[in-house]
Amino acid sequence: MSATLDEIAGTFATESPLLVAKGVTKSFWGRTGLFKPRAENRALDDVSVTLREGEILGLVGESGCGKSTFAKVMIGLEKADSGTLDLGERRIFAPGERALPPAERGIQMVFQDPYGSLNPRMNVHSILAEGLRIRGELKAAEISAEVRRHLELVGLGPDSLTKYPHQFSGGQRQRLCIARAIITRPRLLIADEAASALDVSVQMQILNLLLDLRDRMGLAIIFISHDMAVIEYLCDRIAVMYRGRIVETGGAAAVVDHPRHPYTERLIAARPRVGRRRTQRQEQDAESMEAPLAPGASRCVYVERCPRASEICHTEAPPMEQRAGTAFACFHPLEDRGDPRPLA
Ligand SMILES: Nc1ncnc2c1ncn2[C@@H]1O[C@H](COP(=O)(O)OP(=O)(O)OP(=O)(O)O)[C@@H](O)[C@H]1O
Ligand SMILES: [Mg+2]
Repeated sequence: MSATLDEIAGTFATESPLLVAKGVTKSFWGRTGLFKPRAENRALDDVSVTLREGEILGLVGESGCGKSTFAKVMIGLEKADSGTLDLGERRIFAPGERALPPAERGIQMVFQDPYGSLNPRMNVHSILAEGLRIRGELKAAEISAEVRRHLELVGLGPDSLTKYPHQFSGGQRQRLCIARAIITRPRLLIADEAASALDVSVQMQILNLLLDLRDRMGLAIIFISHDMAVIEYLCDRIAVMYRGRIVETGGAAAVVDHPRHPYTERLIAARPRVGRRRTQRQEQDAESMEAPLAPGASRCVYVERCPRASEICHTEAPPMEQRAGTAFACFHPLEDRGDPRPLA
């Protein structure tokens, strides 16, 4: 399976991708009851992803599918069980090699909760200057100039410098988090549900800020969300994740216009619309995701919920296949428009 994924990763990346993650696997071990044995929860199962400079990749999937775990493994908050990660010429981790410390990886992250990730006792200048001070490469005056420049880049004025996090709105705090993330010049920014907690108009401002930073700085971004509508707006490419696996990946337009995997189609159909209640089926789906995940068995990860599942889906894991700009892991992919839709 890995070999096929590598080939596919190569097809979608340019000649020299910035980021290459290959076969990243991570399990958590825990008990489901007092006298139960420890069970494996495979949060990431053979995940391979590539990314070019200046490209925005949307990682989408429902709660518990492993999106944040992937981000944490990349920035070094969690350790992968296997797999390799390269960023440019830097080897971040590989089996049997010492992993690069988080501060040297050139990857920064923005989290969902901007208030929780900003120290309430530090003012804006100290928050933004901290990363540069730790590096020790710049003099105090140069650091102050960088702080001002980055405040401006994210759309905040110099009057913010002496303020504290509680003196900002949620959207402004998220701008601060973005400024703090980019001031150390990362090559890759990971935004994990970075706009999800904000109301719709502020959410759009943050998405547009990320687009602007990509254009100005050539920043590569992995944007994590469970919201397909947001992913579609922002991203050049999409990777759809289900139970720790990438089940479909490709150009954003190709994936959204012609989803091949039944799960991708379901995510697209479930794009949130204001005022629409979740259907009974979506409620059931949300509940079934809360069950502990079984380690990658020789079957399709989506088999229990798939309206197209046949015998082979229960006995073999589908290999990645390519068609018209997307790659997907499904024995019974959706055909082009006009195909009878199972979820109608
Ligand atoms: N530190 C941990 N210890 C044990 N299990 C964990 C840990 N972190 C994550 N998990 C488990 O790994 C799986 C993937 O979790 P993860 O947080 O990556 O999902 P997610 O896709 O980010 O979900 P959400 O959209 O709700 O943020 C879940 O089953 C979760 O319970
Ligand atoms: Mg998460």
